[in-house]
Amino acid sequence: MQVWAVFYHPTLFTEDLYQRALGVIDVLDPEASARIRRFYRREDACRTLIGHLLRRLMLLEKGVDPGAMKFAITEAGKPYIVSPNLDPPLGFNITHDNALVAMAFSSRTQNPPAFSVGIDVMRLHIPGKESFPSFVHTMGDQLTAREHCLIFSAASSGENLQRFFWIWTMKEAYTKALGVGLGFDFKRLEFDVEDRILRADGEVPVGWHFRMFVLRDEEDVYEGVVAEFLGDGRTDIVCQNEPGEWLKQYDAVSFVEQAILRLSAH
Ligand SMILES: CC(C)(COP(=O)(O)OP(=O)(O)OC[C@H]1O[C@@H](n2cnc3c(N)ncnc32)[C@H](O)[C@@H]1OP(=O)(O)O)[C@@H](O)C(=O)NCCC(=O)NCCS
Repeated sequence: MQVWAVFYHPTLFTEDLYQRALGVIDVLDPEASARIRRFYRREDACRTLIGHLLRRLMLLEKGVDPGAMKFAITEAGKPYIVSPNLDPPLGFNITHDNALVAMAFSSRTQNPPAFSVGIDVMRLHIPGKESFPSFVHTMGDQLTAREHCLIFSAASSGENLQRFFWIWTMKEAYTKALGVGLGFDFKRLEFDVEDRILRADGEVPVGWHFRMFVLRDEEDVYEGVVAEFLGDGRTDIVCQNEPGEWLKQYDAVSFVEQAILRLSAH
């Protein structure tokens, strides 16, 4: 499993760069570029655009010609690779939050066509001027009683916040790996963040592997989880504090320049 993370700062991302990158997607996938153009906010368009470049660069690294890359979405909206037919096949998933766009991919995960890999990354912050308890309260119906207890029993307010986001990103990564989409009742999942145990409908999901990680962007801290189903009869949740070979970080301007160069060279 690998993660590529791109940090996108709107003020550094010029109109010219946006148009040139969109021009590349225009040629490769006119439907995708039409969807990107429909975004009202340029920042949302850019995040989605970066997500499209990420999945294409992933395939380029596997030696696939950009013209042969075809993607589709499941009924619940999860994107997957339609062509080429890779051996072993490749599953991927995208997430974006604030300045971050990240993609997880794995060639070991099961369940075609979209494969059971899911990623969720979120910036550690409370939106607006809300207090932490009222913020958690608004999410209350998505949390179990034990999760509430764990969130508010941490030693410090910083740790409370971390616990909340670990619980949330764990639930999102797992449901995104399942590809179920909106409407899945998060209360069916319980993440015991202290003992690092996830339960779905009261049972530990077997064959699932989870990686918790932290990314830093200047002052901002992001927490993320990747979930993948390997179907190997084991379950583990590891916390990876140090970036390694599995994680690559880029800044959006140089990443997109590279993507334009490499995708249009073919
Ligand atoms: C649709 C959903 C997956 C998007 O999640 P999100 O946290 O808002 O957004 P993220 O940035 O993490 O993920 C967005 C990306 O996930 C991918 N995605 C879309 N639908 C997906 C699905 N059903 N499963 C997995 N991935 C999906 C897409 O690549 C999308 O990015 P793109 O549109 O730019 O290509 C999410 O809302 C969802 O369904 N969560 C599942 C459980 C749920 O209902 N939670 C309660 C919310 S209150």
